[in-house]
Amino acid sequence: MRSYTLIARAKINLYLEILGDRPDGYHELVMVLQAIELGDRLKISAHSGEEILLSCTSPIVPGGADNLAYQAAQLMYREFPDALAQYGGVEIAIEKHVPMAAGLAGGSTDAAATLVGIDLIWDLGLTQPELQTLAAELGSDVPFCIAGGTALATGRGEQINALNSPPKLAVVLAKPRQLQVSTAWAYRTHREQFGHDYPITQQHSGEILSAIALQDSAKIGQLLHNDLERVVIPAHPQIDRLKTAFQEAGVVGTMMSGSGPTVFALCESLEQARDIRQKVRQTLGDSQGDIDFWITHLSSAGIEVIQ
Ligand code: C5P
Repeated sequence: MRSYTLIARAKINLYLEILGDRPDGYHELVMVLQAIELGDRLKISAHSGEEILLSCTSPIVPGGADNLAYQAAQLMYREFPDALAQYGGVEIAIEKHVPMAAGLAGGSTDAAATLVGIDLIWDLGLTQPELQTLAAELGSDVPFCIAGGTALATGRGEQINALNSPPKLAVVLAKPRQLQVSTAWAYRTHREQFGHDYPITQQHSGEILSAIALQDSAKIGQLLHNDLERVVIPAHPQIDRLKTAFQEAGVVGTMMSGSGPTVFALCESLEQARDIRQKVRQTLGDSQGDIDFWITHLSSAGIEVIQ
């Protein structure tokens, strides 16, 4: 039976600006999305039956139709019934490393890898734009996860324009272990609180785009921005404590990723990242045991087939 192993990278948001409401109920966004090396590992295999088989190393990840990777397979089944009949159904085994509901697109990247894997085992030969069109049906972040690297994302986040990569900075991620934030809740609350003065046309991403083009790490660090912090931080003050601890430890820049609650800190090197993690643990004292940390790098890749 044919089988592929893929790395599904997570993302952070270097920039997230909410421009306004969209007729489809979503928000009009301008984002700079950045892939990181932290990723899940998926094995996608053909099997003789027609059902979708899904397993995951993490017991808290939803199984069945609640899982976005499962929905990705359902979409491929609907779109390519002849291939399903010819090659058989698919089995998806997820080795989970990216935390859930953390603002890192963990579910979206598994869905992206599932599309890429099924394209391969069914010999469909889809182009990246074709895969991204399918991906947009699954979620706003899924098209980005296919390509990875660095991108300007507009629309509801699904319209992707690749950017040159910024310097390959190291990253410390910190997430309060028990805390999960619903993306839908974050956007809904933002609309309730700030929808009256949505700017619609204004956007301020130009400066960070220049800093990325100029490979200016210090400027990138200063220009990180996330409008969703305005609603998520007041509800979860521990996010602000994390950011302050990172700032005091002397990072290049720190910000909440997506709808949170993960806070990322950009660092010049892996060595500095380890040092920063140590300092932040000390600053947080007793509460540090409740925080999970990861050290990783910015990545210029997206879904990668490794076997
Ligand atoms: O697209 P995705 O399913 O990942 O989005 C999750 C939720 O986040 C949506 O149901 C919507 O409530 C909110 N959202 C939004 N505007 C966007 C993207 C997401 O309001 N551009």
